[in-house]
Amino acid sequence: MTETVKIEIYADNLSVTQLIASQLAQLVTAGTIILLEGNLGSGKTTFMQAFGLALGISATITSPTFTLIDEYIEGRLPLYHIDLYRLEPSQIPSLHLEEYWRGEDFPLGVVAIEWASKLLTMPPAHLKINLAATISSQNKDETKNLDLNLEDDLEVLSEARLIHLIAQGETYIDILTTLCAEAETKILVISNAKQHL
Ligand SMILES: Nc1ncnc2c1ncn2[C@@H]1O[C@H](COP(=O)(O)OP(=O)(O)OP(=O)(O)O)[C@@H](O)[C@H]1O
Ligand SMILES: [Mg+2]
Repeated sequence: MTETVKIEIYADNLSVTQLIASQLAQLVTAGTIILLEGNLGSGKTTFMQAFGLALGISATITSPTFTLIDEYIEGRLPLYHIDLYRLEPSQIPSLHLEEYWRGEDFPLGVVAIEWASKLLTMPPAHLKINLAATISSQNKDETKNLDLNLEDDLEVLSEARLIHLIAQGETYIDILTTLCAEAETKILVISNAKQHL
């Protein structure tokens, strides 16, 4: 039986996303896998920039859309930042991403994968983070599945995001539970559901 814990956070501005990311960076350990999902411009790389800064990485974290994998080794833990956007799911197995969490060929660190929904098989234990643009605080249930860099989507070019964090496996549930407890006073946690799948 795999246990999953899911929380939903309403981030009404960029600094909330950055706060969650930097608090998460304090809690991760070597071997942590973060799967980032959400449409174009939803904030996956932005999340990782704040995360990296809090991990002690001074280099600017940029989108690995073209490099596919960027490695940062100066922080508290190595960070392997991966972006699958340009790949077809069938091309991904040849990247051998599992090498990054096996701990043999690379020092164990944090593996963060943007567009992780393209993975044909997900690592069994992980923290999934899904970011979605939402229109405004008055309409926070109207999550938009839109690509924010489309010019005609100006209406949703706000900073509001719905962030779902889904922990699968005991280690990740512990991380998420602590994150929730530490962040709850500063952010609005909309729901906190525990499921047995
Ligand atoms: N609350 C927020 N959380 C995250 N990003 C936000 C927020 N509000 C505004 N933004 C802005 O939205 C943009 C998100 O772009 P970013 O490159 O991080 O998206 P992405 O999800 O990585 O896109 P892609 O799929 O192209 O990789 C940035 O310009 C960021 O400043
Ligand atoms: Mg990105």
